Amino acid sequence: MNEAFVCPTCGAPLKTTPDGLECTDDDESFPKLGPFWVLQPAADLALSRHRDAFLAALAETGEVPRSALAHIEAAHRHHRAEPEPLKDDITGPEEGIADVGGPDGPASDALSALDALTLQHGPLAMLQQRLAVPDGSFSRVAEIGPGAGRLTRSLAPLTEELVLVDKVPRTLWRAKTLVARDGHPPPVLVVAEADALPLAPDAYDRIVAMNVIDLLDDPAGFLERALAALTPEGQLLLTTPDPGLGATSSDVLAELVEALGGQVLEVVDGLPWLRHVSPRHRQVYLTQLLVATR
Ligand SMILES: C[S@@+](CC[C@H](N)C(=O)[O-])C[C@H]1O[C@@H](n2cnc3c(N)ncnc32)[C@H](O)[C@@H]1O
Repeated sequence: MNEAFVCPTCGAPLKTTPDGLECTDDDESFPKLGPFWVLQPAADLALSRHRDAFLAALAETGEVPRSALAHIEAAHRHHRAEPEPLKDDITGPEEGIADVGGPDGPASDALSALDALTLQHGPLAMLQQRLAVPDGSFSRVAEIGPGAGRLTRSLAPLTEELVLVDKVPRTLWRAKTLVARDGHPPPVLVVAEADALPLAPDAYDRIVAMNVIDLLDDPAGFLERALAALTPEGQLLLTTPDPGLGATSSDVLAELVEALGGQVLEVVDGLPWLRHVSPRHRQVYLTQLLVATR
């Protein structure tokens, strides 16, 4: 377990403890709560701040270990942080919510055509094409920000170990549920900030982040750690609706990857991504796919 991860704060190796993992450099500790490894800098402060999200996610797992509750309570007693909600960022249909169609009207045909284009040429389809390898091809794959798990189901059969990383624990649980339903072994669930990615160097055959990098405060920090975590043959696959990372040029992401010592293997731009916000509200993004190696 500890060979796949490093300390999110300083990057040092981790050692296993009865409660989770611990930094070998300064003893900073990272608890395991139920199925969730909490690998965030200042993990107990994060637990105090986001206690509602952790408690809700644990409740959803159906098994709430007493030790997990005790840990969250102790962390909160120590830090007394102001509560900060962790909002789910669902970009696929949520379980149990009926898929209500939009009204018919002059836009119907154009929207159906856009749906069809997205299915064929959207970021999900593009990533799936590049990950079309025989089952069991990889030893370890990480998906960062799985959201509703749209890609996670395709990743699970490809690898001996699938690691899911998200700052929202409930998101991880939902993606895990989809994988389990398909009969694959459960992924490793890591609650972490992608800006402080706790992935060990040289340990991942593929790292995938679909529509996540543009949400990060420190995309360069993410890229640096993600590239280092790849095996020599490993690949980092990203899609984003903002390859300029805040600037207008679409080349910023590729230039940043190269400036950090990565090698860009492929860039494909203009891939349609549709978010069905509600039956009468759709968002259309044009995304860029980037594949890189180190
Ligand atoms: C826009 S959604 C994309 C979800 C999914 N990849 C998709 O395309 O359907 C962004 C995902 O990244 C996660 N996320 C956002 N910011 C993050 C951060 N700083 N660290 C870790 N995960 C983050 C969100 O919780 C969510 O699961």
